Parts: sequence; C-alpha cells; structure tokens
Amino acid sequence: MLNGTQPVAGEGVIRFLLDDEIVTVADPAPTRTILQFLREDLRRCGSKEGCAEGDCGACTVVLGELVRRDGVERVQLRAVNACIQFLPTLDGKAIYTVESLKQRDGSLHPVQRALVDTHASQCGFCTPGFVMSLFALFKNVAAPDRACVADALSGNLCRCTGYRPIIEAAARMYECVGESGFAGTPGTLAAASADADEQALIGRLQGLRRDAALVVRAGGGRFHAPLTLVELAELRERLPAARILAGGTDVGLWVTKQHRELPELIYIGKVAELGTVELSESHFEIGAAVSLSDAFAALDGAYPELAELWRRFASVPVRNAGTLVGNIANGSPIGDSMPVLICLGASVVLRKGAARRELALEDLYLDYQKTAMQPGEFVERVRVPRSRHGWVVRSYKIAKRFDQDISAVCAAFALRIAGGKVAEARIAYGGMAATPRRAAAAEAALTGQPWQEPAVRAAAAALDADYTPLSDMRASAAYRMKVAKNALYRLWLETRGEAPLAAAQVNVFTEA
Ligand SMILES: Cc1cc2nc3c(=O)[nH]c(=O)nc-3n(C[C@H](O)[C@H](O)[C@H](O)COP(=O)(O)OP(=O)(O)OC[C@H]3O[C@@H](n4cnc5c(N)ncnc54)[C@H](O)[C@@H]3O)c2cc1C
Ligand code: FES
Ligand code: FES
Repeated sequence: MLNGTQPVAGEGVIRFLLDDEIVTVADPAPTRTILQFLREDLRRCGSKEGCAEGDCGACTVVLGELVRRDGVERVQLRAVNACIQFLPTLDGKAIYTVESLKQRDGSLHPVQRALVDTHASQCGFCTPGFVMSLFALFKNVAAPDRACVADALSGNLCRCTGYRPIIEAAARMYECVGESGFAGTPGTLAAASADADEQALIGRLQGLRRDAALVVRAGGGRFHAPLTLVELAELRERLPAARILAGGTDVGLWVTKQHRELPELIYIGKVAELGTVELSESHFEIGAAVSLSDAFAALDGAYPELAELWRRFASVPVRNAGTLVGNIANGSPIGDSMPVLICLGASVVLRKGAARRELALEDLYLDYQKTAMQPGEFVERVRVPRSRHGWVVRSYKIAKRFDQDISAVCAAFALRIAGGKVAEARIAYGGMAATPRRAAAAEAALTGQPWQEPAVRAAAAALDADYTPLSDMRASAAYRMKVAKNALYRLWLETRGEAPLAAAQVNVFTEA
C-alpha cells in the first residue's frame, strides 16, 4: 500500500482518496471489507464494528463519487456501512471517516462540536457512526426538518436510548458553524453550482478515472469491474458462475455472517450505462447500478403514495449503497420492492451477450431463490410504468419497527375502480410464499365487484386459497395471514367511496 506517493494505476491496483491524499492498494483481497481495511491495515480505528451486517451504523463512513446532475459533473457524498462494502469497490472514490473531520487547526468539526455540546455521546461506541451520518446530512441539506434528521439517522442504533440529544445535535451543528471558526457552509452539495472545495474534489476524482476495466486478483479470488455494458455482458457470458456484485448489501453479509467464499465477483458499479434512470415515453428505465435512494427519488413524483414504503426500506446508508435491481435479482420472498412493482406492471430487461429479452417481473420468480435468469444472463434494468392514471396504488410494510427492519409481510395493491366497481385488480404480497407472488384468488374475488365491504371480505377470505405462509422468527403463519387480510381491509377503509378514513386514522406512523 502506498499513501500520498506517485500511484500507478496498474490493472489490479485500486486508487482512492482518503483525507485528500491518494491511497493505492495493489490487489486487495476481493471480499476484504472497507472496515477491515480501515481498522486492521490503516489502524484507523474510529469506525467501529458493532454488527458487521449493516444494521447498527457503528461503521458508517461517507463516500464521495462523481455524478452528473443537470448535465454537469458534481460530487455526491453519501453515508454507507463500511462493514459490508468490499474494498475494491472504493476504486475511484473518496472516503471520509470520523478521523477526517478534524479541522486543520485541530478543532472539532461542527458536527462533533454539536454532539459534545448536547451531551449526545454516551457509550461512545456508536458515536463515530452518528457523526458520519450527520456529516453527510450537513453536507447535503442546509436546513433539515425533524423528519429529515430522523431519516438521516435511521441506520444508527443507540442502544442506551440517547436519541433525544443526538437529534438536538443535528439542529445544533448548524449553529456551531460560525462559533467554531469553521469556514464551510452547510448544504453546499445541494447548491446550484459547485463551490471551490467541491471543484477541487471534482478535479481530484477525475484524476482517478481509469480507462480500462479493473481486475483484482488475490488469494485465489478475482474481482472484475468492467466499465461498459458491452464489457460486462461479454464477461458475464464468459464467467456464468461468477457472482454479480451491485451494492453488496445482500452479498456483503454472505461474507461477514455466513463466511461464504466468493471466488469470482463481477462488480457492476462502474458501468456508466447502468447508473442512470432514463425516462421513456411510458416508463422509468432504472439501470442495474442505480441505488435504492436514487430509484426511490425518481419514483416518488409518480407514486407519492409509496413514500412511506421507501422510507421504511432499510436505512439511509443501506439505500445509498444497495440497488433496486439488486433487490429484485436477489428475489428474497420478503424483499420490499417487488410486490408493489409487480402490481404496477414492472418488467425486467435481461441481457446475455448482445441479446436482450423482457420479462414481466412476476415471471422472474420461479421458486424459493430460483429465478428465470439463464446462466450468463443478468438484469440490465427494470422498467416501471410512469403512471397508473386512474388506479389506486398502495403498499403496506408490516414489520416490528418503523426504520431498518425486515418485513413480516409486505402487501401491495393496484386497483382500477370505475363506476364504483373494481374493473381490474393486481394484488401481490411478500412474506406469504416462497417468492413475491400475486394473489390470483383474491384478485378474482374482487374483479367486477362493487368496491364495497362484502367484496373486500370475500377477497380477504380468498387469500386462504392463495397462500400458505410459514412460521419463522419474524411471524407465525397465522399472524401473517391475519395481517395480509387486514392490509386489504385497510386499503378499503382508506379508499372507499363513502367516508374514507384519513391517513391518521389508519396509520400509527402518520406523524413519524
Ligand atoms: C441492514 C439491512 C437492511 C435491509 N433492509 C431491507 C428492507 O427493509 N427491505 C428489503 O427488501 N431489503 C432489505 N435489505 C436487503 C438489501 O438491502 C436489498 O435486497 C438491496 O436492494 C440489494 O441490492 P444490492 O445492490 O446491495 O445487491 P447485492 O448485494 O450486490 O446483490 C444481491 C443479489 O442480486 C444479484 N444481482 C445484483 N445485481 C444483479 C444484476 N444486475 N443482474 C443479476 N443479478 C444481480 C447478486 O448477484 C446477488 O445475488 C436490507 C439489507 C441490510 C444489510
Ligand atoms: S458494524 Fe453495524 S452497521 Fe456496520
Ligand atoms: S451512545 Fe452508544 S449506545 Fe447510545
């Protein structure tokens, strides 16, 4: 490893910025995590390991990347969990850890000053993670409201229940700017144009750009990072047994928790064509490398009724790293995006070599962890209709906590109601079967019927024919069936023609 010397961008050498210095690492082990590298190799031990599975936030760091916004190159800084990100994915990026925040004169950053002032550091173990989540908020938002602060901290657990002072610190950090002699301005990354610091960082990151694919070889493993879609398709066809790595928020845990060996990885995060959301006349075309955060932001305008579902999907750091296509391709029966995407009529574009085929999302799932993807094939993008004009769309996540929890059941509905009758019904659930699946019997019970309580009750009863849910550590089979039926009933209460109930009457989280 070299630090601050003349780095050479060889085939297996990764380069990234740490505290404005270029760090190079030759052929790092493909599944070594960023957290292991920071703590064990650099002895930079501010970032902590609590859970090693993206749940607690003690390892939170901030990554900087070049993105195009309104046609202009800008820097994006986002919090991620270092414990489940593999080191080679850092190539070409900037990383900030809690140590990076110390000011040139040795004083504390406003975020740190605020945490001290509000007595928000208690056990201290999780504090570096809180600092980094707040740092990302500070750089991106000039004046956050309380909901925005709560969301920014959704991936950080304080086990001593000290959230109140931490939330106070989020307000205080903005007041500290002048007091601590800190020259920077909060929210600069959201400004219309880049300031001098951002311009300098853009230049440094541009200097790290590579013109050929990255291939890292170490300990019998290989990590490929192609730069173009054609390269990726060729590589995938040649190496059908290789594991595709997108955001790593599922794959990372296979290594840190299941100790699985992943000898060959193909990382898609550097393929520029996959990193965009395009708008066709009728669809959102969401590339396989688009983060959950960016995909949800794109869908928000078209489907505002899904805002709570997206907000309850994992946490900000997981949504920043994970991709929507990764959720779909992983195909977990309790994945949160698939039921509603199925209801909306989304499809996936599969690619093998130069050939593409499109498949309705519901047809992708054959059985538990079995998809219709052929060897050598991968998901290039997901296509989501831009509008479901005239349809009622809802999705309800049932989990024990608001933030950062896996669903027991995730219910989704899209109904076209015309003249008081259900003209078309699409209903899908996660957590009720081995795959995310439509409820054919319930749909049939509703279609053509008046949108009134008897039809709703009949459709709820029909769910017994649609699913035989399992009991596991998250919920019993009986509980799952009961809440699945209740979700359908809630949909009716919210949308019935006469006296529909207001959000606060059906949702305990309305004020959250
Ligand atoms: C703390 C935590 C909380 C979470 N909470 C939720 C939650 O609330 N709801 C939920 O649904 N999920 C949740 N997840 C799971 C995970 O974040 C999502 O499934 C995420 O969308 C996966 O995307 P990724 O890019 O990280 O996928 P990766 O981990 O990179 O890949 C996942 C799988 O998909 C395959 N894959 C990825 N991209 C492609 C492609 N283009 N073509 C073919 N195969 C591909 C990979 O080979 C792998 O098998 C959580 C995870 C963590 C760690
Ligand atoms: S150590 Fe818990 S989220 Fe990384
Ligand atoms: S400050 Fe660490 S658990 Fe609360």
